[in-house]
Amino acid sequence: MQALVTDTPIAVIGAGAMGSGIAQVAAQSGHRVYLLDQRTGAAEAGRQNVAKQLQRRVDKGKLKQSSLDSLLERIIPISDFDELASAGLVIEAIIEDIEAKQKLFAELEAICTKQAILATNTSSLSVTALGASMEHPERLVGMHFFNPAPLMALVEVVKGLATSEDVAQCVYATAIQWGKKPVIATSTPGFIVNRVARPFYAESLRLLYEQATDSATLDALIREAGGFRMGPFELTDLIGHDVNYAVTTSVFNAYYQDTRFLPSLVQKDLVDAGRLGRKSGQGFYHYTEDAQKPQLATAETAHTEEDTLIVEGSAGPLAPLVARLRNHGCEVVERDGPGRLLFGAAVLALTDGRMATERAAEDACNNLILLDLAFDYTQANRLAITAAEQASPRAINDACALLQKADIAVSHIADRPGVVIMRTVAMLANEAADAYLHGVASLDDIDLAMKAGLNYPEGPLRWSDNLGFSLVHTVLTNMQQSYGEDRYRPSLLLRKNRFAEKGFYS
Ligand code: NAI
Repeated sequence: MQALVTDTPIAVIGAGAMGSGIAQVAAQSGHRVYLLDQRTGAAEAGRQNVAKQLQRRVDKGKLKQSSLDSLLERIIPISDFDELASAGLVIEAIIEDIEAKQKLFAELEAICTKQAILATNTSSLSVTALGASMEHPERLVGMHFFNPAPLMALVEVVKGLATSEDVAQCVYATAIQWGKKPVIATSTPGFIVNRVARPFYAESLRLLYEQATDSATLDALIREAGGFRMGPFELTDLIGHDVNYAVTTSVFNAYYQDTRFLPSLVQKDLVDAGRLGRKSGQGFYHYTEDAQKPQLATAETAHTEEDTLIVEGSAGPLAPLVARLRNHGCEVVERDGPGRLLFGAAVLALTDGRMATERAAEDACNNLILLDLAFDYTQANRLAITAAEQASPRAINDACALLQKADIAVSHIADRPGVVIMRTVAMLANEAADAYLHGVASLDDIDLAMKAGLNYPEGPLRWSDNLGFSLVHTVLTNMQQSYGEDRYRPSLLLRKNRFAEKGFYS
């Protein structure tokens, strides 16, 4: 199905943060855009907002003044519904309220031509439910932009039960024409991104709840070892805890209280206290001018005479770390064994989802130190470790000394299952696998959504494949056992991959 031609007028209803951004995107692609808001002056203010944003680009020499002027001429604030009759696509970005949106679509059906596509920018309402009160629900589709719409590449094109394939394909092609990266999703709670991203916040909140370490250290690990652009606490401080907590709660309830999505009491406390993040001056962090930078839990420089690293068996995902240590002067000796690293008194292994204490007892290896996953061990400049209760201070010292040889800052956190990055990635992959299992979207679209919508360094399914066909399943199975909670149950597809000895893409 073809994209809408640029001669097609577009209408945007609701000229707030999202509506004005969407109007900018459409106008940038050459469309005439009618902008309507129920609040007097809001449509004009939305247009002014676009002018203000783009003036900065003109001042920096990135956009010609004449281009800005003609773009602004194409955004036409209106107050009369009748002027919407010529629009080929109407995108609503009004208040997130099902009755208000249903009323609006009824009005639009009465005014717009039969061919006009009606789209909703809702992030949490069912497109199927919105369509249920329409005369022609086949022409309703979700067009879910991300904030700020002109900058964020992702658009989730959401199909309700009645949405026609042609309508979805036309909106998909139009989004590409507008310079976006669209994905197709079925109308299920949270669509792709707001569902699959829940563990990104939830696992760190859980670790904080269990006092594994402090928020600043978890944020630093997520960035410096995980390769994510922001840590979950600085990000939720930015989003606002009221907003983030509401999304989590709505997804949790929409999935009939599946504990996978259980909201966190830590975040609820912040909301109850009015510590909503940046906008209220305090969330996990303080935002006053004299606020101190939080201290990170970083191990002090450890000393050792040792410089031989023994690699027993396959290093698996730790192979790039071994190569990095070799480049930093470690003598590496390889021999047969169960897949672990020996350095001085320390026995090091990649976390498999068991607590170090548990694994040390099961494997009869007291001095066990578990290493967290890194997105790229050749680049990570911080890594979390956990030590078995039975481990000697010497073993912990030697593990720190080894990583410090490669200039890696060590955060020794309390012994909890799956350390930090591994459990986050495993749960992201788990949710992504179930979203695929439930027919929400294709493998490629799920991975693309997480990268284009949230700047993840890798799509969760591809990331899981990169770790091998069984590691994520093992981690989750062990975490489920350690916690005794359904929350960590592995997706059927991860289990299937394990027995088929293949990944999602292989
Ligand atoms: P906003 O509060 O900034 O803007 C909403 C605008 O709609 C206001 O100007 C309001 O006067 C107007 N409005 C309300 N009811 C109306 C009606 N019946 N007819 C015409 N205009 C009406 O809200 P925002 O953040 O722009 O969100 C709008 C929609 O986009 C919501 O459905 C929201 O869930 C969705 N969304 C929001 C995102 C965000 O990060 N803010 C991201 C993606 C989607």
